[in-house]
This record gives sequence, structure tokens and C-alpha cells, in this order.
Amino acid sequence: MKSQVKNLCRLFALLLVLPTMAFASEGGPKLDLAPKEKFSDRAALQHGAKLFINYCLNCHSASYVRYSNLKGIGLTDDQIKDNLLFTGEKVGDLMRIAMQRDDAQVWFGAPPPDLSVIARSRGSEAGSGADWLYSYLRGFYRDPSRPTGWNNTVFDKVGMPHILWELQGDQVLEAEPAAAGGEHGGAHAAHAAPKLKLVKQGTMTPAEYDNAVGDLVAFLVYIGEPTADTRKQLGVLVLVLLSILTLLSYLLKKEFWKDVH
Ligand code: HEC
Repeated sequence: MKSQVKNLCRLFALLLVLPTMAFASEGGPKLDLAPKEKFSDRAALQHGAKLFINYCLNCHSASYVRYSNLKGIGLTDDQIKDNLLFTGEKVGDLMRIAMQRDDAQVWFGAPPPDLSVIARSRGSEAGSGADWLYSYLRGFYRDPSRPTGWNNTVFDKVGMPHILWELQGDQVLEAEPAAAGGEHGGAHAAHAAPKLKLVKQGTMTPAEYDNAVGDLVAFLVYIGEPTADTRKQLGVLVLVLLSILTLLSYLLKKEFWKDVH
């Protein structure tokens, strides 16, 4: 009997780790974990919104998102108008951009995609979209062979230049240690965790930069589903109501059957 229980426990444990094993075998670069506690931190989300509008909205649109959605992270109409609208947009407008897709194709070799649901679309590929974004925005390094002069550890040959380089500074890719695979290391090296070295610090320290990118990623997760908070609260409310209903129907049943027995 005891060993049966043990076996059952083992089976459960296996079922629990199976999905993670599948991811591990997928390969690809290792992702750093985004600070998830920021997802519900209003100050972080507001800082992320500011970074997004200042640095990303020039090339990327977020055309499912309205500026008025920023009220969901605690900003007032006036704060949005005074701090985050630059070129005559209105609070109710969608986050669109003036750049034409065709121009972008010519300039960067690829059009910058709309970022409204980027945290969700990248999520299916690497387990968590937030982790991918967090690694991507911290993974730019100097690469003279690229037209922009930049490459990226999680998005090889990316068309996007390192927009936040003034904040982060210059990183270079550390040479792979020769022992890692010798001359047959080509395919193998692509799967090894790439090591970046900061050769020139930007206006932020590495810790400050990680923190800022964490805020930005939290905001990208937020715009992917601005009603996520409300949805979760509603879910809890529905469960509470269902339990009350269950209790009531049980009491009612008892009342009905009282005289039958
Ligand atoms: C100068 C224009 C420009 C700016 C500014 C810019 N990007 Fe990009 N971005 C691009 C281009 C072009 C691509 C497409 C790269 C490719 O497909 O090779 C891209 C790709 C991306 C991707 C990958 C999308 C995907 O899944 O394929 C993400 C994520 C992203 N940008 C986030 C950002 C964030 C966040 C900011 C602000 C900090 C930002 N970008 C600012 C031009 C820009």
C-alpha cells in the first residue's frame, strides 16, 4: 500500500515537471526572469509607460491601446495630457505612429511590429513573453557586421538598433571559451548562454538599467491585457457567489426533504 502511494507521488511529480522538460529541450538562448512583482506596481507601470512613449512609440505603434488606458495604472486625464502627449494627440486617441511601414522596411530591413500584444505573442515561444522581452531589451551588443551596428542575444540579426543605449551603455559579446566546443562548436555555441560585457556604462548603472527595463516590460504586459486585474477580481467574486449559492441550495434541499424522512 505504502509503495503504491509512493509511486503515485512520483507520477504526480513527473507530470508537474514534464512541461518544463519540454521547454528545456527546445534550446535557444537562456532567458533572464523579468521581475514579476512589478506587474501590479503602479509606480513601476507609470515609469514603464513613460519610457514606452518616449523611446518606443516613435517606431512601434500600440494601436489597440488608447492613451486613456493609462488611467488604469493610476494616471489622471491631466497627467496624461501634460506629461505623455507630445504631438497634438488627444487622451482618447489610439497609440498610433506616423512612420509608414514601407519606409521602415527600407530603413531597418523589417517593419517594427505593433507592440500592443507583444508580451503575449512572445510568450508562446519561450515560456514567458515578459522574460523574453526583459532579456531582449538587455541583450543588445555592438556588432560592426550589422547595418545598425547592433545585434542581440535573443534576437539574432535584429533590425532594431539599441534604442536605450544611452541609458545602458555599450555591451560586447564575450568570446566563447575555446574549450566549449572547439572547431565543431558552431551549432553548439548558439545554444550556450551568451556572455555580455559592459565596456562603457551609460547614464544608468546596470542595476538602474535592469530596474527601468523591468518597469518597461511590466507596462508591455499591462497593455497586452489592460483588464487583467479586473478579470482576476471578477473571477474571485464569481467563486464567492457560487459558494454562497451552493450553501443556499444545500440548505434549501435540507428544508424540502425535512418532512419526507
Ligand atoms: C528606430 C526605430 C525603433 C525604435 C525606436 C524601437 N524599435 Fe523595436 N523594433 C524596430 C524594428 C525595425 C524591429 C523589427 C526587427 C526585426 O524584425 O528584425 C523591432 C523589433 C522589436 C521587437 C521584436 C518584435 C518581435 O517579436 O518580432 C520588440 C519586442 C521591440 N522592437 C521592442 C521595442 C521597445 C520596447 C522599444 C522602446 C524601448 C523599441 N522597440 C523601440 C525598430 C524600433
